Amino acid sequence: MAFCAHAKLNSLCAVSSSSSATARVTVTVLTSSTGCARMRNGRQTNCVIVRAASSSSSSSSSSSTEVSRSSVGTIPKTTLYQEGELERPRWTGETPLSRLVGALISFKPLYSLLKLGARQVLISTAEKTNIPWRDMRREILESEVYNEMDSIQNNSIVYPDYYLNPFHAYDVGNLSWLAAAEAEAATMSMMRRTIPDASSLDEAKQIVRGNWLQAIEQHHQKYSGNAMVKDILDVGCSVGVSTRYLADKFPSAKITGLDLSPYFLAVAQFKEKQSTPRKNPISWVHANGEHTGLPAKSFDIVSIAYVLHECPARAIVNLVKEAFRLLRPGGTFSVTDNSVVTSMTIMALYSRNFVELSPVLFTLMKSTEPFLDEYYLTDLEGTMKEAGFVNVRTILTDPRHRTMTGTVPY
Ligand SMILES: C[S@@+](CC[C@H](N)C(=O)[O-])C[C@H]1O[C@@H](n2cnc3c(N)ncnc32)[C@H](O)[C@@H]1O
Repeated sequence: MAFCAHAKLNSLCAVSSSSSATARVTVTVLTSSTGCARMRNGRQTNCVIVRAASSSSSSSSSSSTEVSRSSVGTIPKTTLYQEGELERPRWTGETPLSRLVGALISFKPLYSLLKLGARQVLISTAEKTNIPWRDMRREILESEVYNEMDSIQNNSIVYPDYYLNPFHAYDVGNLSWLAAAEAEAATMSMMRRTIPDASSLDEAKQIVRGNWLQAIEQHHQKYSGNAMVKDILDVGCSVGVSTRYLADKFPSAKITGLDLSPYFLAVAQFKEKQSTPRKNPISWVHANGEHTGLPAKSFDIVSIAYVLHECPARAIVNLVKEAFRLLRPGGTFSVTDNSVVTSMTIMALYSRNFVELSPVLFTLMKSTEPFLDEYYLTDLEGTMKEAGFVNVRTILTDPRHRTMTGTVPY
């Protein structure tokens, strides 16, 4: 099944064709094995190649090396995608290479160098697209945000081991004011990179968030008998950006934002206090999404946005199971995160074969996103079905992200 994601606001569609052209690009589904992800369960080997500036239809055999560096930044507003499942790349899991990389990253001087480079790239890329990263950071760090900590922090929390490691080029991962002060700029930058040809940051945000919200709403309408949405949980809410989008979309629902970082939650609460008061104020909960301690069957929608690629496989499974426990019968679960197609396209730029990702790139990737490989190798649809969800659907809601939805049976 191939999906199309119109970048014009709130329009999604699914199509059955595997090859098509738009005014700007051609997306070709290949049948060669070079550089492509092989579908499990014996189906055809597929991969997606995006070419810039083509105006005619095309469907031919080709090699993944045809993806040029310049083409990735030109993914258009209307694009066809086809997603394949990945076989286990050689650089993942407990291999000699991944153990070596783990040892290299734990060598402090090397990690510091990698971190410095990664941060410089992040900040300068954002500022080149008019995201005032350093100004936004200063505004938070010089504010009264620190006063929110006491009312947010759950002192009895036990952090999972994966959460205590260096992450996103922060030595203490998400457990710092610096990470919290930069989180919103980082989110904006991700939106900009997702829709590089959007006319503004606002347009990019509306496309990415609008399509995600619409996927949730449509799933709930279709499979939940139009049941009223009274309670929504946003797991991994970070500084509350996704939570506020959910609150705006479902204004009559009570919204809870939950996160493991009290620093992020403090920023979320601080920013919400500065905004126009809502009829239903957002509640913020400092807890582990794997075992929230919240009552079973207490939500109509549970959303997990851009969290799972930051978690090891065991945590992904626990987060999905906990969402199932928290939802009422007929409730809707949504996960939005990186699509496999993107990983294939990007990886193909650096390596002739995705499964042979260069050790240097792998080391860089591992130093800032330690669980990306585990995320890409997790069968999310299968994990949702095993947890008990039915009506499990995946839709590419923008050129880089998929939204997966499922229902708790009645
Ligand atoms: C990229 S951010 C999420 C962004 C946000 N949902 C949005 O859409 O703007 C990932 C968040 O997941 C949180 N997180 C990671 N593991 C978690 C867990 N087990 N329980 C709760 N939150 C978790 C992190 O603290 C971080 O704030």
